[in-house]
Amino acid sequence: MDSAPRVAVVGGGVVGMTVIRVLQAELPRAQVTLIAENLGDDTTSCVAAGIFRPGTSFRGPTPEITQRWIDDSWRYWQDILRTADAPRAGVTELGAYIFSRDNYHVTRNHLIEKLVPVYREVQDDELRLCAGDWRHGSYFSTVKIGCDNYLPWVERSFLRGGGKILREKVASLSTLGGQYELVFNCTGMGAKLLCGDHDLVPLRGQVLRVRAPWLKTAFYGDYDTYVIPGAGGAVTLGGVRQYDSYDLSVSPHDTAAIRERCEALLPALRGAELLAQRVGLRPHRVPVRVEAELGWSPVVHCYGHGGYGVTCAPGTALHAVRIGLDLLRGNTRSKI
Ligand code: BEZ
Repeated sequence: MDSAPRVAVVGGGVVGMTVIRVLQAELPRAQVTLIAENLGDDTTSCVAAGIFRPGTSFRGPTPEITQRWIDDSWRYWQDILRTADAPRAGVTELGAYIFSRDNYHVTRNHLIEKLVPVYREVQDDELRLCAGDWRHGSYFSTVKIGCDNYLPWVERSFLRGGGKILREKVASLSTLGGQYELVFNCTGMGAKLLCGDHDLVPLRGQVLRVRAPWLKTAFYGDYDTYVIPGAGGAVTLGGVRQYDSYDLSVSPHDTAAIRERCEALLPALRGAELLAQRVGLRPHRVPVRVEAELGWSPVVHCYGHGGYGVTCAPGTALHAVRIGLDLLRGNTRSKI
């Protein structure tokens, strides 16, 4: 690698933005261009509440690789959290309760129980923190990543570091071949068309943002019910998980159901001012695709994180960048 390599990263959500940040740190002399149709608030990442909580449907090619991605992601968010820039980056500490009526198992999380500072079974009096007949519960300490801050924070530092941004839709990865020595494909659901990937399925999500500045802890109930406080007193209420639905419009039926479930969990939310309603398509794929494809010009794919893009973008981005650097160094056996 004698001259500065030209590298393109396609996709402006949390995965693409994390790849550009890692790339600039690992290969500062590369000429990196981010190509994105949508940035910031227009991305699926900005719909997500962004709490670090990987679930069992997040799977890499092996359990060991999945766990490494999660561990690396946790360290990445912790590294930002320890800096004075953490509030500007949207990374904050958060405690969360998970309650269940029927199943102690769903309140446990073997992927992070040994990773986060606290993960414990709740005591009986904590079961009464929320309305309802809760029989099982866990409490854990974690981080929350507000992508409305994190994405622009990365963008600013990327531009300061000499990165370039092109606001456009990429119709075909092969068209980038002549211009870049390496391409990262971080297009989320966009990869369905770009790669003809039929293993990629949307899990439609809808969330509400309400004003409830008094709430400082996150709460999960059964059936995808969650209440997650964020910056500026805005609280995310969710959610739904609709398999293979491409409907990007706000459903009044989902709105009513989400409000009803969240208010049943935390009655103090009744009457909270509605700030926004958002819909996003979580790009679900098993396994998440982090691998090289050696065509005309090498592509490293990094997509298919489902509802765990914000949680696990860093671990997968680190892996993807390592594969990419090996390719640039001429080692084409770096596929995972
Ligand atoms: C969620 O975290 O619930 C979510 C993530 C992405 C899109 C929609 C919802």
